[in-house]
Amino acid sequence: MPTRAAALLLCGGVVVTQDPYAAADAAAALVAERTGHVSHHVAVVLGSGWNPAADLLCPPGDGVELSFADLGDRPAPSVAGHVGKVRSVEVAGHRTLVFLGRVHLYEGHPPATVVHNVRTACAAGCDVVVLTNAAGGINPSYDVGQLVLIRDHVNLTAMSPLSGPPPPAAYPVRFVDLTDAYSPRLRTLARDVDPSLPEGVYAALTGPHFETPAEISMLRRLGADLVGMSTALEAIAARHLGAEVLGVSLVTNAAAGVGDSGVDHGEVVAAGEAHAASAGSLIASILARLP
Ligand code: HPA
Repeated sequence: MPTRAAALLLCGGVVVTQDPYAAADAAAALVAERTGHVSHHVAVVLGSGWNPAADLLCPPGDGVELSFADLGDRPAPSVAGHVGKVRSVEVAGHRTLVFLGRVHLYEGHPPATVVHNVRTACAAGCDVVVLTNAAGGINPSYDVGQLVLIRDHVNLTAMSPLSGPPPPAAYPVRFVDLTDAYSPRLRTLARDVDPSLPEGVYAALTGPHFETPAEISMLRRLGADLVGMSTALEAIAARHLGAEVLGVSLVTNAAAGVGDSGVDHGEVVAAGEAHAASAGSLIASILARLP
């Protein structure tokens, strides 16, 4: 296991927040070197409580595993349920990077750090990025344990991974179009697998506190069906780099004021544990339909 200093060296000495694109390139070079695969096709980011999905997509001991620290100068995720590892595995014939956990704004990280894994995956060749998360259900028709395809998001973090100095000349301009940010093609593939999957709008907040009932009532009026603390910045970074994005939320609780009780983090993680295995097989079946 490399020390953090060694990890910095391995990534070319580039600090993520100073030059995020060079840092992602350096991390991708490390991924290629350590996995022996010059290119990957798909990235899957597993959110809170989605670990059981990992066992289906990439059984422990299968493929090559790196820690997030290997990919750059960042502390490991500080949230229960976020393992902080990435595995390179073959899923349904596609060379895939499966990220077990993510880092969040509420851990004190800037946007560049939050999206570093996704930028690394894109630099490693991934042109399909599957972002999963645990979410509170604002739409009263959702049940706990339900999977929902993200159709669109409302980014209420007041942040963007594209703020700051412009991307280097070799990259697209930062004014990225977010129409169809969540790929209609991939959503159609998902509904081919499970026609009953609903689609919803995901509201991204910074957290880490859960919302008040008044805030949830506001979000419902804004058109949100789901609420969570991740995904939107990663989707923006992936779209900027030209990847197609599939977003899948696992409804772990009724949002504040929607159900009969309050919201509890233990309940969120437990609901993930209970339902994420089926979510893993859904993702594997979707990947099997990719050309
Ligand atoms: N609110 C915000 N984030 C969440 C929730 C919620 O109710 N459930 C899971 N992540």
